[in-house]
Amino acid sequence: MTDPTHASVPDGTAGARGTVPAPVAELRSALEILDALITVRLEERRGGPTDRPLSLDDDGGALPDVRRFAGTGPLATLIASTGLTSAEAITLVAALAPAIDERFAVRYGALTDRPGVTGFTGEVARNLVGRSFADRLDATLMLAPQGLLRTSGLLELDPPGDLAGRLHPGADLTAWLLGLPPVPPTATADFPARPLTTVHTLDDVVLPAGARRRVTALAGRIAQRSTVVDDWGFGTHHDNASGLLALFHGPPGTGKTMTAAALAASAGLPAYVIDLSALVSKYIGETEKALARVFDRAARDGSILVFDEADAVFGARTEIGDAHDRYANQEVSYLLTRIEEHPGIVVLTSNILANIDAAFQRRIHVMIEFPEPGPGERQRLWSSVAPPELPLDPDIDRAALAQRYRLTGAQIRDATLDAAYLAAADGRVVTTEHLLEGIRRQYEKTARTVPE
Ligand SMILES: Nc1ncnc2c1ncn2[C@@H]1O[C@H](COP(=O)(O)OP(=O)(O)O)[C@@H](O)[C@H]1O
Ligand SMILES: [Mg+2]
Repeated sequence: MTDPTHASVPDGTAGARGTVPAPVAELRSALEILDALITVRLEERRGGPTDRPLSLDDDGGALPDVRRFAGTGPLATLIASTGLTSAEAITLVAALAPAIDERFAVRYGALTDRPGVTGFTGEVARNLVGRSFADRLDATLMLAPQGLLRTSGLLELDPPGDLAGRLHPGADLTAWLLGLPPVPPTATADFPARPLTTVHTLDDVVLPAGARRRVTALAGRIAQRSTVVDDWGFGTHHDNASGLLALFHGPPGTGKTMTAAALAASAGLPAYVIDLSALVSKYIGETEKALARVFDRAARDGSILVFDEADAVFGARTEIGDAHDRYANQEVSYLLTRIEEHPGIVVLTSNILANIDAAFQRRIHVMIEFPEPGPGERQRLWSSVAPPELPLDPDIDRAALAQRYRLTGAQIRDATLDAAYLAAADGRVVTTEHLLEGIRRQYEKTARTVPE
């Protein structure tokens, strides 16, 4: 999907000021269409509720064709990619409208016979899109929890079971349609994912040659994705050709999470880590809805989804035992299906490959093993984890440390950090003794004995 924040279309009315951003031009015309429809509906509603026939069956109630929303901005993209009908599109625009002009909220009050209501409710939506009983029946189905607007997470009804409740777009959806850059969400029960950021680039990751080649190839595939999937049509001419599912596996501390973050940073894409502990919640429908929000958002803003330490969820499915397991299984099935169908990039990390369900492994496009670093990698790690500002004793023999101590990248970083604190407390430069103390602590943590 193209970046909505940079799209722009020429607009005659803007005159000397040049161009109006596509989202603005597009929403302006959508709001005009909506406003005209509201005027028609209000006209039809003249006279009190008991004076009017309940159903107006003639065909004067046709909705504006969905193609009238065909601008070049995020709204048009959304309508096309989700396949919204006219009724769904106008409902979406109507839910968004009060965020742009509060008079819409007031006018909605006149579109319902419930006294004292302002703002956009499910009933207002139904009155807006449906005149005849047949149309209103369709509208009722459209607004049901099973309807596309709600399963896709575009609109939420609050409370969920009551059409008299408020119908509103997700906060990030409003921003997206306005063409604003996405605000990184914080993980909540509603959105069980947090942004994954890093100061590192791919060059900072120390890997043996084989793994390095695979990571570089994956970065290349991500960089070329929009050419192949969008420009060259693989996204529209094949099913499931736009998705890219990668698995990084290897012992803890070998740089899997770091690489996922650096890949996203180097591609200029946002990345989210899904909080798998939030996955199994008491209410199965709620968890699926929360996950749907994460996937939908990632599909919209092109972000990379990272399932970190995925073993727990992607392992061989548990035998169906008590009710809790059944819930877990159902949620996991939902998650696997969403991942398989996701049109974007998903990275899983796992400490043990054998833990990943074999059937699921076949769905993975790119598998990269992150081995424990050998002496060569360890020597490079001892150099690379030390910031350039760190005052180091020139007598430190990194080759010797690398030969003698079997540590991962994460352990070498932590040992160096410990040594830096010790040196700072001593008011001195970092010496071999400080590093050896840092190393000793790492061995202690894993209950191993330090080699002589
Ligand atoms: N291969 C590596 N190259 C460079 N630094 C590494 C490497 N592996 C680990 N590190 C350091 O250790 C930290 C933690 O590693 P992490 O990516 O969380 O490992 P994993 O996800 O495999 O458990 C990284 O942020 C980085 O500072
Ligand atoms: Mg990790």
